[in-house]
Amino acid sequence: MRIVHTRTDLASDSGDARRGVVMTMGALHEGHADLIRAARDLDDHVTVTIFVNPMQFGADEDLDRYPRTMDADLDLCERLGVNTVYMPTPDDVYVRPSLVTVDPGELGTELEGAARPTHFRGVLTVVNKLLHLTRPDHAFFGEKDYQQLTLIRSMVIDLDIGVKVVAVPTSREPDGLARSSRNVYLTPEQREQALAIPRALKAGAAEHRPADIEAAAAAQLSGLDTDYVVVRDPELGPPRMGRGRLLVAVRVGATRLIDNCAVEVTGL
Ligand code: PAF
Repeated sequence: MRIVHTRTDLASDSGDARRGVVMTMGALHEGHADLIRAARDLDDHVTVTIFVNPMQFGADEDLDRYPRTMDADLDLCERLGVNTVYMPTPDDVYVRPSLVTVDPGELGTELEGAARPTHFRGVLTVVNKLLHLTRPDHAFFGEKDYQQLTLIRSMVIDLDIGVKVVAVPTSREPDGLARSSRNVYLTPEQREQALAIPRALKAGAAEHRPADIEAAAAAQLSGLDTDYVVVRDPELGPPRMGRGRLLVAVRVGATRLIDNCAVEVTGL
């Protein structure tokens, strides 16, 4: 496995293999392992990027205390047969102050974007850069960050980026909690409270009309600091008949947790 820290070294990776990229901010867990395995199944050369992207953190967010577990991350990549790990410094990614950034459009201001107004501009800008730097055929993203996945898909279409985005289902702990690097912030008691989130998704998915889905999910979350519980269509437009998505965001202590699941809307 090659570990590279600069875009120059990254550029010397062989160009002829079928290539997959898994972009991460480190603190790798079983959810990332699923992304890497999906890439291994489809591609000959797998690159994992590990970069805690300052541009997607708001001023009052957890950039400084974001978990960093470099040795364990590299171990996991090695065990999973990753070919290249790109671990740049901010200066290697942002070679000069960015004047040109990627505008996520209206969807970037809703849901997560309402609470984190600059977040998706930072995400799309760095994803765009990393796609250009790693030149993959496939890029793998988890459904856990469903709005991020949706916006990346839109960016790839709207900006004619020649990469196929592959969505990988959310990885869950045995008790149903979605795996997230931020789960380490939870105390045992908060982790117990957070189990209301998978219960809310299950209760919502058993209903059929958007209002009932949202009410059933919200009922499970009562007593928690809920930011949103909404049903949208799969592209995050207004809900319509057929497939839909239930999305929730909850604050447990100081930790913001998000999750989502597919729902079937059979009445409006
Ligand atoms: O999902 C993440 O870990 C990050 O938002 C990503 C896609 C690596 C961009 O920094």
